[in-house]
Amino acid sequence: MTKAAMMEEPLMKSRNVHWTRKDLLGLKELSREEIELILKTAESLKEVSTRSIKKVPTLRGRTVVNFFAEPSTRTRASFELAEKRLSADSLNFSGSSSSLVKGETLKDTAKNIEALQVDLIVIRHSSSGAPHRLAEYVKPGIVNAGDGTNEHPTQALLDMFTLKEKKGKIEGLKISFIGDILHSRVARSNIWGLTKLGAKVTVCGPKTLIPYDIEKLGVRKTFHVEEAVEDADAINLLRIQLERQSEPFFPSLGEYAKGFGINAERLARAKPDVLIMHPGPVNHGVELTSEIADGPNSVIMEQVTNGLAVRMAVLYLLSLVR
Ligand code: CP
Repeated sequence: MTKAAMMEEPLMKSRNVHWTRKDLLGLKELSREEIELILKTAESLKEVSTRSIKKVPTLRGRTVVNFFAEPSTRTRASFELAEKRLSADSLNFSGSSSSLVKGETLKDTAKNIEALQVDLIVIRHSSSGAPHRLAEYVKPGIVNAGDGTNEHPTQALLDMFTLKEKKGKIEGLKISFIGDILHSRVARSNIWGLTKLGAKVTVCGPKTLIPYDIEKLGVRKTFHVEEAVEDADAINLLRIQLERQSEPFFPSLGEYAKGFGINAERLARAKPDVLIMHPGPVNHGVELTSEIADGPNSVIMEQVTNGLAVRMAVLYLLSLVR
């Protein structure tokens, strides 16, 4: 029997960590041990995708609904594939193709999904807190696939998985986030997770895109990109989220690129082995140049690969509590 197929609840208990949560809503509420358990589980499950037959029976007979009320490429594809690799039955629908457009409430939609006896609901929604409300309304486990500007826990987990895989540890690493911190659920989840695991986090961007009291979360703040680049072990570049800005926060994308975009000159100031990360979608020539996105320091595609293993781990752990 393979390592992944053998992975059962007693193995988790033997590591003295019990997964007890019905839902994964954010990294704010997870302990360091729970985050480490997800990362360790993902390490075991990553191997499944290297086989000629990329499937294990772990979630056979379980049903997962993917409900994406906001656009997504990576997260949606990754969850759908994770469910297939674990042999779960999946049902996919989007906000625009559901009765939400006819005025049905999110609660009624969720209650109707629940009535179909599903086990897990993966939800992306433009409203911060939507997954948290659903977790109160319905019995199926809820996985937050990104809620407004609040959290994107599986993105942060795959970012941490990639850091650990590449650098061998997270404790003590210096990680800089450059970009639209104000509207970034990716930054928020990473800050909760990385600080719990002992990393030193710096956030950088235009003054209008950094929350004024962000230091309260245990991070360093700078408005000078050189400071964010110079001693970083990894630089995570965040997209300017124009869709969440009701008014312009800076003059133009060109000016943003000039002040904060990572180009060859700025990369030359960084450590030679710095990791360049980006959650996607990338705006080439804005957050970074195409040469750097495709260059030797970039781990952007590896982040995508690791997202699959991390989402398999999350679905597996939540299924233990059903
Ligand atoms: N990183 C991320 O959430 O990408 P998608 O919006 O394509 O899912």
